[in-house]
Parts: sequence; C-alpha cells; structure tokens
Amino acid sequence: MSMQPINQGKQMHMASSSGHRSPRRAAATALLLATAGLLLLAPPLAHGSSSPEQQQQNADRILGLPGQPNGVAFDMYGGYVTVDEQAGRALYYWFQEADQPEAAPLLLWLNGGPGCSSIGGGALEELGAFRVHTDGQTLLLNEYAWNKAANVLFLESPAGVGFSYSNTSSDLVVGDDRTAQDAYIFLVKWFERFPQYKYRDFYIAGESYAGHYVPQLSQLVYKNNIGVEKPDINFKGFMVGNGVTDDRIDTIGMFEYWWHHGLISDETLDSGLKVCLDNSTLTKPSPECQKVMDKVAEEQGNIDVYSIYTPPCDKGTPYAHRRRRTLMLPPYDPCTSFYSTNYLNIPEVQRAMHANVSGNKGPWIMCNLAIYDNWTTDTIISMLPIYKELIAAGLKVWVFSGDTDTAVPLSSTRRSLAALGLPVKTSWYPWYIVPTEVAGWSMEYEGLTFVTVRGAGHEVPLHRPEQALVLFQHFLQGEPMPAEAKNGSVILLPSEKAASY
Ligand SMILES: *[C@@H]1O[C@H](CO)[C@@H](O)[C@H](O)[C@H]1NC(C)=O
Ligand SMILES: *[C@@H]1O[C@H](CO)[C@@H](O)[C@H](O)[C@H]1NC(C)=O
Ligand SMILES: *[C@@H]1O[C@H](CO)[C@@H](O)[C@H](O)[C@H]1NC(C)=O
Ligand SMILES: *[C@@H]1O[C@H](CO)[C@@H](O)[C@H](O)[C@H]1NC(C)=O
Ligand SMILES: *[C@@H]1O[C@H](CO)[C@@H](O)[C@H](O)[C@H]1NC(C)=O
Repeated sequence: MSMQPINQGKQMHMASSSGHRSPRRAAATALLLATAGLLLLAPPLAHGSSSPEQQQQNADRILGLPGQPNGVAFDMYGGYVTVDEQAGRALYYWFQEADQPEAAPLLLWLNGGPGCSSIGGGALEELGAFRVHTDGQTLLLNEYAWNKAANVLFLESPAGVGFSYSNTSSDLVVGDDRTAQDAYIFLVKWFERFPQYKYRDFYIAGESYAGHYVPQLSQLVYKNNIGVEKPDINFKGFMVGNGVTDDRIDTIGMFEYWWHHGLISDETLDSGLKVCLDNSTLTKPSPECQKVMDKVAEEQGNIDVYSIYTPPCDKGTPYAHRRRRTLMLPPYDPCTSFYSTNYLNIPEVQRAMHANVSGNKGPWIMCNLAIYDNWTTDTIISMLPIYKELIAAGLKVWVFSGDTDTAVPLSSTRRSLAALGLPVKTSWYPWYIVPTEVAGWSMEYEGLTFVTVRGAGHEVPLHRPEQALVLFQHFLQGEPMPAEAKNGSVILLPSEKAASY
C-alpha cells in the first residue's frame, strides 16, 4: 500500500480590472487565438508604465482554454517562475481568480504524492473552477469551485512534478527541505509578478503528502515575516486535509482504521503495529514492514484505497498498479484522473496555459513515481512541532479528514492531533448543511479546528464538493462548522445544488 496520490470558459472577458496590459502581447495572443479559430475582441490598451514583472503577469494571462464552457466570469493566469537560475529549475502555476478578485483572499493549494500534480489533481479534479468531461477534451464548470470564495493559486511542486521541471536531472532527487525552499522562492517572486496581491489575506492549504508541504512552507513564510512591519505575504493560516502528519502516530491510526473497517486480518493488525513502528517512514517502509504492507494489499483486495465504499476505476489508476473491479454504483466518477491526464497532454491546451514552453520530456503525468521513489526522507518525521509553533504564533490552523480514506485515514489524523495535547474548546459534534443529514463532524481545540467530511475519500473536494466548499468558507471566516442547518448565507441555493458533474 503506497502513500501515493494520494495522491468552459471565461467568455473572452477582456475588459477586466487590471489596466496594465501589454498591447504587443495582446496582439500576439489575438493572433494566436485567431488562428485557433476563436473570435476575439480587442482588449483595452495598456497605459502607464509597468515593471517587467507586471508585464510578465500580462503575458501569463490565459485568454481561453480549449473546450471551455460558456459562463466563465473570472480571470486565469498560468506560467513559470524560475526558482533556481543556475540549475534551470522552474515551477509552473495556474491561478484562478475569484469573480471579484479584489474582495477575496488568496489561497495557495498544494497536492502531495510526493510527486503528484496540483494542476491535474487539485485544479482539475477537486477544488478548481473546471472539471474535465469524460471525453478528456472539454471542460465543465465546477459549481463548488473554491474560487467562489478566494483567489486560488495552484502550484506544481517540487520541480519534476507535472509541468514544473529542472534542467538539472539530479534535481529529481529531492525531499521536504528543497520543496519548501523552492515553494517559498516561488511565492516571493509570484508576489512581485502580482503586486496587487501584496498585503492580501493569504492562506496555504493542501492534502495528503502536502500534510508536510503545507506546514513546512507555512513555517518558512511565518519566520521570514518576523520583524517585517507590513509583510508582502500577509500570511493568516493554513489548512490540511487527509494529511501525513506524524509517521509513527499516523501508522498506528492506519492499521486501526483498516482493521476497524474490516479490511485486514487480526494477525496483520498485530504484525503491523509490531513491525511498522520501528524505523519505517510512510514513504519508505523498512523491508520487514514492506512485507506486512504487501499482506495488507492482498487482504484489502480490489478496493479504491482512496475511497473504500465507491467503486474503483475499471481502467485501473494512473498512479498505482493494482487490478480493480466495480462493485457499487459510483456517486462520483473514479476514472476522473484519466480525463485530466488526457486533457493536459493536448498540445493546444499546454499552449493556452503557457505550460511546457521549454519542450519538457513528456507525456504529462499525474504523479511522477521517480520523485516518489527517490524522495530523500530517511527519518521518521513529525509535523507536530511545527503545528505547535504556528498555533502559538496565533495563525489560523484547520485540519480536515474525509472519513472513507485508507491512505491517510481519519484515525491517523485524530491520533496525531490528540498528540498535540491542546485543550478541547468544543467537543465532537455533527455539522450540517441540510437538516436531514449530517455533513460531517467537528471539534475545536484551543488554536486548531478539526472537521470531518462524511462519506468523502482521500480527495475531499472531489468526493464531496459541496461540503468541501462550505468547509472552506467557514475556514476563511474563522467560524465553527454549523451545528444545525442554517437558513443563511452558507446554505447553497437549490439551483446551485443541481449536479454539475
Ligand atoms: C531549461 O533549458 C531550456 C533549453 O535550453 C531553456 O529554454 C530554459 O529556459 C531552461 N529553463 C530554465 C528555468 O532556466
Ligand atoms: C533502526 O535503525 C537504526 C539505525 O539505522 C538501527 O541501528 C536499528 O537496528 C534499526 N532498528 C530496527 C528495529 O530495525
Ligand atoms: C511538451 O511538448 C512536447 C511537444 O508538443 C511534447 O512532445 C511533450 O510530451 C510535452 N511535455 C509534457 C510534459 O507534456
Ligand atoms: C529515481 O527512481 C527511479 C525508480 O523509480 C530510478 O529509475 C531513477 O533512476 C531515479 N531517478 C534519479 C534521478 O535518480
Ligand atoms: C428558509 O427560509 C425560507 C424563507 O425565509 C423559508 O421559506 C424556508 O422554510 C427556510 N428553510 C429552512 C430549512 O428553515
């Protein structure tokens, strides 16, 4: 059982707020799009002077994506930020603004793996503005996209993942430290390119192995802000979903979850708790522990390990190698990764997104196993000290868990959070969106809010998009999850409840 992977369009909405477009660039794009057979109105001409960074912002503007639907009311940008000139290392980002960008906070989203793409995962399967149709060529609007509440920045991290690359092949051997350093350099440079977001409330969120990335990057941002009077990066807090938190404690919770859900034998529970708690990290089990993990996989059989009660994709999975078969009716499409992988490999899509501009070796893949296999974590790692530090600093910290995931299960997260030893402020209670059905459960520690999402797997916004958006809105507002269905602003209108996907 591996820790992997965990892991329509803007109607050519040119007349938008930022008045610093480069006419030359606009003409060039108009030409490009015209040759692609699209009708374009001329954008307003730029006036005034803008820095090279801001000109780069204009160049990064995505004027439309192949196969995008009508009704896209927000702006998008995509492009590269070089994080190491000597090595030739550059990270790719895709930025989806809110409908009213000036009024909304800024969120950085990271997927995990290590080695998995935030563009293919987070942006196109989970919380992004679009999802990919089963044809792998056209896009649908995600009505529960998180850019309804924030400006959302997706980052492919580290180099070697998705469209991010390095011209130095040894850079593919990487671990937590450089991942955090590079992501921080990216952020600093990105804020130079998008100065209108300086001083904006800024949050970092992610899932799975990003349970490492998110607190580690948060800590870097926090430390570099100390003593700065009005920091460019106005960091307010972070949120982690089904995140790897503490190798040892998570492992105990994993075996418990598997056993309690009837997925493994009594003997495997016993041997796992005996053998896998010594020197094993979650990405690198010891040889003895690997034997137990092989037994686990055999006993679990053909299930979707990221969502135990929904059928696996009958095409297998782009990120594991196990045979699958369908047993239940799908409440979501488990093959979604194939559609986004197909879409992101279309040359016109890559051109429109300003991705793969240096002719990187392809094809584009959802999760780079070379990154995963060569990950440089040799010791058991715990994020709990960082949680303690950042909670003490007064940052907003939320953790959520989809409760049908076996990869980083609920019981791992519960145990890891309990180990923080924080006083309980509000004990376990059900939260609601509609009065007829529990949406999940929640509790508040002093300094940390924990939320579960009922029936969600590893990728909460994929499995339970409506709950996920409500959760995100409450996180931003710093309000506890509703103990009863409120007839207020967080209740989505009936029209918004229609299945979009
Ligand atoms: C990587 O190499 C290509 C080809 O020489 C070059 O075009 C590109 O700018 C380099 N990337 C970086 C980040 O230096
Ligand atoms: C754990 O690792 C240490 C150092 O690598 C080694 O001395 C020790 O024997 C290992 N313990 C087990 C149970 O494998
Ligand atoms: C980059 O583009 C080239 C040329 O279209 C293609 O062969 C290659 O697969 C692409 N790389 C990625 C990572 O998609
Ligand atoms: C990383 O691991 C893979 C095995 O998945 C190996 O084939 C490859 O050579 C390694 N890559 C690097 C850059 O060391
Ligand atoms: C919500 O409010 C509307 C109108 O104010 C009312 O008709 C409806 O019954 C309320 N729904 C609930 C669940 O309280």
